[in-house]
Amino acid sequence: MYYSEDLIEEVRLRNDIVDVISGYVKLQRKGNSYFGLCPFHNEKSPSFSVSPDKQMYYCFGCGAGGNVFTFIMQYENYTFPEAMKFLADRAGIELPSQEMTAQTRQEQDLKTQILELNKQAANYFYYQLRTENGAHAMEYLSKRGITKETMKNFGLGFSTAYSDDLYRYFKKKGVSDELLKQSGLMNVDERRGMYDKFWNRVIFPIQDVNGRVIGFGGRVMGDGKPKYLNSPETIVFDKSRNLYGLNAARISRKKYFLLCEGYMDVIALHQAGFKNAVASLGTAFTSQHAGLLRRYTEEVVLTYDSDEAGKKAALRAIPILKAAGITAKVLHMDPYKDPDEFIKAEGGEKFQERIDQAENSFLFELSVMEQKYQMTDPESKTLFFREVAAKLIEFDQELERENYIEAVAVRYHVGFENLRKMVNQLAMKGYIPKIQLTGREKKLPEKEDGMKKSQRILLTWLIEYPKLFETVKKYISPEDFTEELYRTVAEMVYEQQRNGEINPAKIINHFEDSEQQMQVAQLFNTTVSVDTKEDLQKAVRETIAKVMENSISYQMNHSDPTDISGIQKMIENKRKMQELAKLTISLS
Ligand code: CTP
Ligand code: MN
Repeated sequence: MYYSEDLIEEVRLRNDIVDVISGYVKLQRKGNSYFGLCPFHNEKSPSFSVSPDKQMYYCFGCGAGGNVFTFIMQYENYTFPEAMKFLADRAGIELPSQEMTAQTRQEQDLKTQILELNKQAANYFYYQLRTENGAHAMEYLSKRGITKETMKNFGLGFSTAYSDDLYRYFKKKGVSDELLKQSGLMNVDERRGMYDKFWNRVIFPIQDVNGRVIGFGGRVMGDGKPKYLNSPETIVFDKSRNLYGLNAARISRKKYFLLCEGYMDVIALHQAGFKNAVASLGTAFTSQHAGLLRRYTEEVVLTYDSDEAGKKAALRAIPILKAAGITAKVLHMDPYKDPDEFIKAEGGEKFQERIDQAENSFLFELSVMEQKYQMTDPESKTLFFREVAAKLIEFDQELERENYIEAVAVRYHVGFENLRKMVNQLAMKGYIPKIQLTGREKKLPEKEDGMKKSQRILLTWLIEYPKLFETVKKYISPEDFTEELYRTVAEMVYEQQRNGEINPAKIINHFEDSEQQMQVAQLFNTTVSVDTKEDLQKAVRETIAKVMENSISYQMNHSDPTDISGIQKMIENKRKMQELAKLTISLS
């Protein structure tokens, strides 16, 4: 971190969160908080709240949240230092420039150094594309229909034909080999030593949601192999948690997102006005990707390539999206290979038509399944319907299942009642649909999530009802929070409580990553609905008990059974739990 904690806190205190956010979102007072339409996802009724007491915002719809720094980082796509500068300017605070000198640079952690290196590399590539050296790369991109403006928006660049160009550039700046090695920008081999990973390629910088360059993709200009090279995973580049184009897509304010396969697809789509397009980074789509998307949207239109590989990838992505609570649809690209080709041939309006016609993912799955059967053969056709029926059982809501039975009946010209009978018979035979297995797998995280939720609720209450601390501390110490992040936050909350200071927004300052800041915001905004004071007291007691129980079982699973003091602590905890049952809790 560049700036001292005191300075960060001063800048934060001088920027009232309600004031700042009012400049972006229309807020209305409701009780102790302000509410408005969330700027981070599309919604019709306000679930975005700003609390003047906590100096925090939180969206109950998409989970976005944090303090005033987080908001500016998220909204303006700023890094932390940029948000700091913005808010300092706003409050008329002058930031000391000497804090950014060589001395503090040494204190920056590896992550910051690598991000800085990536930024410099991106600038270097960007510059090269626009010199004489890069003329043919520029021509290549132009021929592919990319405008100058799009090139700028995506920061496209070029790595020259020399295999040590970037290496020498960084050496001149005094960057160490060790750092270069960890940046993923260099290859190292025994014979040649260290040299550039990318040369003679068009460069696609990969940005995270905050617009920081975390890695690169490079394409040969022509038919060489491999077509694309990508940065390896590094301390700042986790391919399963980032999506190409997301930093722009998340502020597109479209109801749905387009998920495609390639860099060029994202670029072509954005250029044609589909700024809601993202792609995974040359790897398979993961549940972490889905979780990331879910923060911004509830619906995804899959625009994968039309070939077999693309179809398979879509079939794999559908259940992953579904499990994250995202509805998936599948766009038909034929006769074109991918969105880039489609747009080039038919233009954006035609593509929008295809989006509007995108197929329900269940029906898409069926149409792929159908290909395994011979639909003109009655026996094979019956087997097909049996498989369809087995899939229909997976819908556990009756109405939804009936709707799907109806849709299938219409599409495949069979009687609704016949199909329904088949589904019910199969269900009665005790047929265990596949989903039940995944259902059971799902249960575990659910329970785990229940544990986490109790811990979150407790942290929220400690902020909202400071009086509660006297009681809670008798039973629960920060170590009882079994999630690492929660424990760190609990330690800070306890520390603040002991000093008689309650300041959740300050705690958020300790986390640099806006992803983490959002998680922390969630810790202070977990709600349970209770009607009366008695209910609330009961809920508090039960929550304390749950957190204790969880801590006990966590210790049992993780401690050495011969450790006497550990066992004693557990016995002590059990005794405390009995005491807790009789306790009256005062909240104010
Ligand atoms: N990819 C990769 N390595 C390769 C080929 C592909 O990492 N050798 C990844 C890239 O992220 C690429 C995506 O897979 O964007 C899709 O690949 P493909 O469909 O082959 O390329 P396009 O995106 O269509 O690229 P282009 O239009 O430039 O051929
Ligand atoms: Mn392509």
